[in-house]
Amino acid sequence: PDHTVEVMWDEEPKSLRALNTVIAEAGPLVPGATQAVFGEGPAHADIVFVGEQPGDQEDRQGRPFVGPAGRLFDKALKEAGIDRDKVYLTNAVKHFKFEQRGHRRIHSKPTAGEVKHYRPWLMKELELVKPKLVVALGGTALLALTGKSTPISRSRGRAMFGNMNGYITVHPSYLLRLPDEETKRQAYEAFVRDLAHIRDLAK
Ligand code: URA
Repeated sequence: PDHTVEVMWDEEPKSLRALNTVIAEAGPLVPGATQAVFGEGPAHADIVFVGEQPGDQEDRQGRPFVGPAGRLFDKALKEAGIDRDKVYLTNAVKHFKFEQRGHRRIHSKPTAGEVKHYRPWLMKELELVKPKLVVALGGTALLALTGKSTPISRSRGRAMFGNMNGYITVHPSYLLRLPDEETKRQAYEAFVRDLAHIRDLAK
């Protein structure tokens, strides 16, 4: 895979605001999204969490991690002693993509091509925020950060993303999808332990 990021910017964004304008003006690759969902949090947060792509609620509200996965993530952050307002939350892909089923809009996973399309913007975002630690939440974020598809189970824990200190863990929506309660509880606890580790690494 191609790890290099070579974009021809019309004008290289020098702030998150300028970057977000570029993303909004580019619009969704696949039509349907209401709006772009930008990263949110302090411009120089110590920790950046990278998710996959906005979901239905995020698309409506224009904010990352405000739907069911976001609520579970909030709970886990709190248990791990991380203040959501002090970290920066973003996504590998900035527009919601879905399949319409009746009234429901069912999230569809971004393709590798879509991840690649958004990657220069994610990299610029990380360069601007310059956190101490970048956290990949799940496989899509990991693909965006490394250019490689690697199972989370085999790469979980500390990592380097280029020259950035990183950490790899599961996506909170993976926890929501686990079928039985006991498995879910154990996976949630392991996620909270990862977050506590992340908190200590970014001190
Ligand atoms: N899942 C994500 O990856 N990101 C969001 O913002 C919400 C759900």
